[in-house]
Formats: sequence, C-alpha cells, structure tokens
Amino acid sequence: MVEAYSIPVTKIEHSRLPGVNLENIPFGRTFTDHMLEADYEDGEWKNVEIKPYQPLVINPSLAALHYGQAIFEGIKAYKNQAGEAFIFRPFDNYNRFNISAARMQMPAVPEEIFIEGMRQLIALDKNWIPAMHDHSLYIRPFMFASDEMIGVRPSEKYKFLIILAPTGPYYSAPMRIYVEEKYTRAAPGGVGQAKAAGNYGASMFVTAEAKKQGYDQVLWTDVYEHKYVQEAGTMNVFFVIGDTAVTPDLGSGTILAGVTRDSVMTILEEMGLKVEERPVSIDTLMDAYKAGNLREVFGTGTAATVSLIRELRYKDFVMSFDTAKWTVTPEIKHRLDAIREGEAADTHGWMFRV
Ligand code: COI
Repeated sequence: MVEAYSIPVTKIEHSRLPGVNLENIPFGRTFTDHMLEADYEDGEWKNVEIKPYQPLVINPSLAALHYGQAIFEGIKAYKNQAGEAFIFRPFDNYNRFNISAARMQMPAVPEEIFIEGMRQLIALDKNWIPAMHDHSLYIRPFMFASDEMIGVRPSEKYKFLIILAPTGPYYSAPMRIYVEEKYTRAAPGGVGQAKAAGNYGASMFVTAEAKKQGYDQVLWTDVYEHKYVQEAGTMNVFFVIGDTAVTPDLGSGTILAGVTRDSVMTILEEMGLKVEERPVSIDTLMDAYKAGNLREVFGTGTAATVSLIRELRYKDFVMSFDTAKWTVTPEIKHRLDAIREGEAADTHGWMFRV
C-alpha cells in the first residue's frame, strides 16, 4: 500500500496545452507540462521533485551515454466517461522496472517514487489525457547512470525520471513482418527480458533493413537455429491456431514479460480460447498456415496495444491474411479498450485510480 508521500512541486506558469491538438497526436513527440526527477547518490534516493518539463544539463562524460546503463518502462493512463483518470496496471510495470534495474546492476526505485510520484505527476497534468477512443497518456519512467566517468564499472549515481506524452495509436494499419534469420535480438543469459535501452538501439539497423524490403517490423528468432520465434519488433506476439492462442514462453529469458501480453492471455481465456505459452517454431506456423489453421497473428505491447499482422514472410514463403475477416483479435482489442476506457467493469483490478 502506498503511503501519502510528499513530493515538492514547481508548477509551470502557463500550460502549453491550449496550443496542442490532442486528436491523432503522433506517438512520443509531445510532452506534458511537468516531469518527475530524482537522483540516486551515496546509496540513497534524494531530490525527488515534480517540475516543469525541461532539458537536462549533462556532462559529455555521463556514463549512460558511453556504456548504455539505462532502462525504461512504458505505461498508459486513460480517462473514463466521467473524466476520472486511471493508470493501467502500473504495479506490474513497477515490478518489471526493478527486475530490469537488477539485471543492469542499477539500484531499485522505491514504490513511493515510482508509483506515488507517477500518480501525483499525472494528477497535475490530468488535462493532457486525451479522452478519444484509442488515445491515452503514455507514461515513460526511465533511469540512467549519471556518473561523470568513463571507466567501465557500474555507476554510483543515477537519475530517475518520468515524462508523459499524450498519444494516439502507435501502429495504425495491419503490419507486414519479416521473419529475421540473420540478426538476433536476445540470447539466453543476455538482457532480452530486461527493458534495457540498448535492446531497442540494437534493433534499429535490422528493422531498417526490413523496411527497405517493404516490411514494418521483424519477427525475431532464437540465436541457435533462427527457428523459434521471440518478439515482433517492440511487441510480444500471438498466433491463433484453431481454437488455441499460442505465444512464445518466457522460459529462455529472451522475451520481455509484457503486461499487455499477460492481460491478453487472461482475456483470451475469458473468450473461451485455450492459451498456450510454449516454444513456437516457424515450421509449426508454416504447417498450420498450409493446413488453413493459422487464423490470426497479432502483436501486443503498451505502445502498440493490440496490432494486427497481415503478412509474415519467412525466406520465400509468404503467409498472408485477410484481416477484415478476423474475429478474435478485434474482440480482444475491443474488450481491453472497454476496460481501459472505462466502458466495461474492471473485474481484474487492472485500473489504478490517479
Ligand atoms: C512500449 O510498448 O511501451 C514500448 O516500450 C515500445 C516502444 C515504444 C519502445
């Protein structure tokens, strides 16, 4: 339980909100009036404050810039019909954040800074939460090594921040995905299960190569045989095969434990589908496709929510789908949106009141 925790607040004089059109706003380019900032020094968190959104002043020797000791999270807040603000499953992201921190040899962030700080920040910038369908306030907590030192060792100082970005849908159209066989996102024993900044940086060259061939994202495969699928771009991935929804299991430590992934598994079961977390090979998918059993393919993520995949290409074999005929994916998205936008009862306790 979060105790009342007092955080000093410096408010902006004039909100930038009147100059912003919250409708169809592109992802991650517009930020709200305020941000939260905290420092870790001498083994403790200090200087926690909410203040106007502003540049950070950094030294060129900042450790995070050199060795990538940096992690982040993605969370969303919504407004219901009555104008009340709720955050979707923030404690799950909080737990994952500290798992990422441990893997990257960074200090844990206490709950009162992460959760209560986020709650107070959103309460202050509540008017920035778009009320339109498929729109939300994207919450970006992040932490980086802030020692001014280029020796390779864990930093002694860190900065934790939360910034907020009103946003519309991330991937609006159904996607074409290239099954990647040369490059890898994560190997067992690596940092694939952590939300480490470098995982995303390392994906950009590979995604750019796929884009040159007309694909939106790659489907990552295992490091040994390039046969077992992992994640699609920045999303977890699901395959509806007959009456079973299959998603790669988290066992090898190469896959991010998505909060949307977990929510979608719950909803799929409520819809009467069987859900299996298990290794999924590209051969299984091609066999199911050839037999007419691979019905739907979709990705899940905080930014992406639930995104339809209309084509999967493996070598010269193309699996294409008429997404207009799909029933399962639209229903999952509908049920999830209804909970988040306050149109359906929150029977799972997923919505945290601001
Ligand atoms: C998210 O879904 O929140 C992500 O982290 C994906 C991307 C925007 C980096």
